[in-house]
Amino acid sequence: MEQEKEAYILGTEQAELHRLGVQHQVWASEARNAWQYAEFSQGQTILDLGCGPGFCTRDLAYIVGETGKVIGVDLSANYIEFLKKTAELHQLHNVQPLHTSFDDMDLSHVNLDGVYDRWALAWIPNPQEIIQKIADAMLPGAVFVAHEYYDWSTFQTQPIMPNLKKGIAAALRSFKEQAGDIDVGRFLPSMFEKAGLDVIRTRPMAKLATPDDLTWHWPKSFLNIYLPKLTQYLTPEEVDLALEDLEELEYQSGATIFCPQMIEVIAVKS
Ligand SMILES: C[S@@+](CC[C@H](N)C(=O)[O-])C[C@H]1O[C@@H](n2cnc3c(N)ncnc32)[C@H](O)[C@@H]1O
Repeated sequence: MEQEKEAYILGTEQAELHRLGVQHQVWASEARNAWQYAEFSQGQTILDLGCGPGFCTRDLAYIVGETGKVIGVDLSANYIEFLKKTAELHQLHNVQPLHTSFDDMDLSHVNLDGVYDRWALAWIPNPQEIIQKIADAMLPGAVFVAHEYYDWSTFQTQPIMPNLKKGIAAALRSFKEQAGDIDVGRFLPSMFEKAGLDVIRTRPMAKLATPDDLTWHWPKSFLNIYLPKLTQYLTPEEVDLALEDLEELEYQSGATIFCPQMIEVIAVKS
């Protein structure tokens, strides 16, 4: 799998694809609960916005069944190719992979019953515009489920490891300087209302990881992949020291990682 030029800030190479798989395992039950709340079901057309390799697209394809359809949209050709192969392998003929940017995504002939967004709106400069375009394609009663960061600065460890803390601060700085707002989740309730959707649920979603728990591998894989990319913000020595701290943290008695605070927002079109 090649590194793409137009790829988003975290990259789309093999290691990142694997990290998204780990991330999906950590968050899959939350996604499933939200889809149940939204009553995603057989026969529906669901949009998986910024689907990445399509871990959620695949799960949703089983939920909507043969009479339904899941449209997986992503800018990464690598990820869309992976989704196509997944759909083939699982004989999921109801998956429609769409390789496009959100700006160029054409929903004019689509009638959506549901939308799922997980970490897709945090990377773009115009989330309100994209939400409006999607809202316009939603049928009355259609439900938009979003899982995004609310406050990435909450990412912290106990005990505090000084070099790791510096690494996490550099990651946050890089996010603050990219085109989108990493904490877009906090604005979603008002953005949805502005797009004519009624917010029916907002709740915080948090993860506290311990070393013996799968959740630990979410921040661990993120830091191992992302910190070496932060050449603008960290020297190679600082990266090494941060990752050594991370290793050491794993063996500290009672160690915990508080993962960046997320929010769930669910809205319906009246
Ligand atoms: C953090 S990943 C999340 C993937 C997936 N939603 C999940 O939860 O596993 C963000 C995805 O958004 C895609 N993306 C970012 N900006 C985009 C844009 N402007 N248009 C389309 N896709 C975009 C990236 O290519 C990437 O696959």
